[in-house]
Parts: sequence; structure tokens; C-alpha cells
Amino acid sequence: MDLDRKVILITGASEGIGAACARLFRERGAQIAVVARSREKLESVAGAGGLAILADLLDPDSRRRAVEATVQRFGRIDVLVNNAGVGMYAPSWKADLEGVRRMFELNYFAVLEMIQHAVPHMKRQGGGAIVNVSSIGGMIPLPWFTNYTASKYAVCGLTDGLRIELSASGIHCMAVCPGYVQTGFQRNVISGKPPDKLWRARKFAITPEQCAQALVRGLERNARTVIVPRAGRLLALAYAIAPSLVDRRLRSIYGTLDMQ
Ligand SMILES: NC(=O)c1ccc[n+]([C@@H]2O[C@H](COP(=O)([O-])OP(=O)(O)OC[C@H]3O[C@@H](n4cnc5c(N)ncnc54)[C@H](OP(=O)(O)O)[C@@H]3O)[C@@H](O)[C@H]2O)c1
Repeated sequence: MDLDRKVILITGASEGIGAACARLFRERGAQIAVVARSREKLESVAGAGGLAILADLLDPDSRRRAVEATVQRFGRIDVLVNNAGVGMYAPSWKADLEGVRRMFELNYFAVLEMIQHAVPHMKRQGGGAIVNVSSIGGMIPLPWFTNYTASKYAVCGLTDGLRIELSASGIHCMAVCPGYVQTGFQRNVISGKPPDKLWRARKFAITPEQCAQALVRGLERNARTVIVPRAGRLLALAYAIAPSLVDRRLRSIYGTLDMQ
């Protein structure tokens, strides 16, 4: 897809990966609409020509409003980037269910509902693209994050099914599965905190700009799934071929995290 003059709606774009994507899309000549709850940061990301949509995506009405405001302002919507998401550090067998429901509401149901609002516009226009930001945790289980990975597996499943459902409409669907990215994500979790060992691994994480580059390049070449960085691709491949070997490695890491 050529991004020049395309209208791109990005959720969770006040900081982190979403904000880096917004900046890169603008450099490619796209018109951007950005959604999040923090007014100042969002307006600064939107810039002069962009549209800042202040919304809490936990509220279903805000999802309809975000799509409508974009179409009202720019007359169309070419790409929807479902990026807003939140994590939770807790063993799944004793995690607070209310928090898990809230996480699924943002990580899965907001994604699905944004798609349901955007697709009729894309069908009318004769095409478009949907990009869902999942995680490497949507391809392999991360035991310090089990419920989060469940929500991201759901996003990958949705993206793969939707790609087939919409293929005749000229709407492309792509999942993005980043590994560790240096953003506020680990601080912005619904509950819990990253074990020290994982927090220290932060220095090996990629930047949000590197993640955004991979996303934008994937969209330009109509990729199905983007896994970034390359180590994540190797891990996903290893899990597909020899899951019990990867399980064993994850078990030994988990054993050192003191999360019981
Ligand atoms: N960072 C990582 O290591 C990593 C790895 C794999 C996948 N991911 C995924 O990448 C995506 C972006 O994560 P990030 O690292 O950029 O996280 P982040 O820095 O915490 O940014 C999250 C963004 O989502 C917005 N947001 C959160 N709750 C919202 C709500 N209820 N309504 C509207 N907007 C909301 C936040 O803005 P406001 O607070 O202003 O609303 C912010 O702009 C997420 O889906 C995450 O699961 C991240």
C-alpha cells in the first residue's frame, strides 16, 4: 500500500508505539487521526494537520465516535491501526477477574468494535487496511503475562480470520507482534509490576521508532504478520517446530522470577 495522502486512524497514539507510528505515517505523506485519553500529548502528536480524538476506548461509544470523527474530518478512512493495549503481571490462576475483563475489553473488544465501525466505510471505498498490534506474546506464551498473552492470541486469531473474511473486499489485515519495546507499557499495566529480571532486560529492547518502522514497512508490502525484532521470529519458529523445548526454557526463566 502506498501511504501518501492515505487517511490513517491510530488508537493509543499519545505515546509509545502509537505515537512513533503517527510520526512515521506523517513523514510518508499520510493524514492522521489519533486516539487516546491524554489531551496534551495527543494534540502534540496530532500536530497542525492531524485530528486528535480524546477518548477512553473502554467506553464502547467512544469507539464509534472515533471512526465517525475521522470520516467526518477527512471524508474516508484508509487504514485503522488498533494499537491501544495494556498489560497485567499476575499468575492467571489467581488474577483479579475484574482487571482481566478490563484488559480484554481494551485489548480485544475495542479492537473488534473499531473494526466493525471502520469496515463498512472501507467496503464503500473499495478497500483499506486493518493493522492490529498484538505481541510476540500472541504467538508464544509468556508465563509472567499469561492473561495478557491470551488477549493477544485472540488478536492474532481475529486478524488471521478477518483477512480471509475480507479478502474479496480489498481490505488487507495485518498483525504486528513486537517483542520488548522501550515504552511506558511496563509502567502502565492494569496491575502488578515487571519482575526485576524482566525490567533489567529492558536494555535489550527495541525502540518504539524501530517498531513503527517495521509496522509501516509491513503495511507498505501488504505483509500478513510482522514480528519484530528478528529474535522474535526465531522464537516463534522454534515454538511452532518444538514447543516443548521452548516451554522448558520459559519454565526455567519463570522459576527465577518469584511470581508465585
Ligand atoms: N512495549 C512493549 O514491550 C510491547 C510489546 C509487545 C506489544 N505491545 C503492544 O503495543 C501496543 C502499544 O503499547 P506501547 O508499548 O506503546 O504502550 P504505552 O506506551 O503504554 O502506550 C499505550 C497507549 O495506549 C493508550 N491507551 C491506554 N489505555 C487506553 C484507553 N482506555 N483508551 C484509549 N487509549 C488508551 C495510551 O494513551 P493514554 O494513556 O493517553 O490513553 C497510550 O497512548 C499495545 O497494544 C501493547 O500491548 C507492546
